[in-house]
Amino acid sequence: MKKLAALLFLLAALPAFAQGEKTAPANEAKGDPAAGRKLYKAHCALCHFADAAIVKVGPGLKGLFQMKKLPLTGLLATEENIRKRVGEGNPDPQKPLMPAYKEIFTAKEMDDLVAYLKTL
Ligand code: HEC
Repeated sequence: MKKLAALLFLLAALPAFAQGEKTAPANEAKGDPAAGRKLYKAHCALCHFADAAIVKVGPGLKGLFQMKKLPLTGLLATEENIRKRVGEGNPDPQKPLMPAYKEIFTAKEMDDLVAYLKTL
């Protein structure tokens, strides 16, 4: 069981390592949805459906950028608010914990993730 957990952790961490090795050209368009999809699968899919709007652990994220308001907090579903919510996670110990991704993702990875979220 321990070995399996270690293996799963490695698999989850791989995309992050792979990302770090690339050097992005300065004028690259913001965010690569294909890279963002990998990040989503490794980090978010555990708790959020990408193809449904129903709750898994957190709310389903299908159509996130088409929503008027974010499903739980009711904040306007702007890119700024979405980046903030994903970046800061949920520090409230009374609620199921969502990690603060600004401490996990690089700025480039955050751009990739947002580019992918826009396709949902
Ligand atoms: C361990 C489970 C977990 C993981 C992993 C997780 N989330 Fe969440 N997320 C939640 C929960 C639970 C909530 C709702 C509770 C809250 O924060 O109020 C939430 C809330 C959100 C919201 C805000 C909804 C709102 O109404 O404000 C967004 C957007 C979101 N998550 C996106 C993501 C993305 C993108 C990732 C991956 C980078 C991710 N989450 C990873 C559990 C998770």
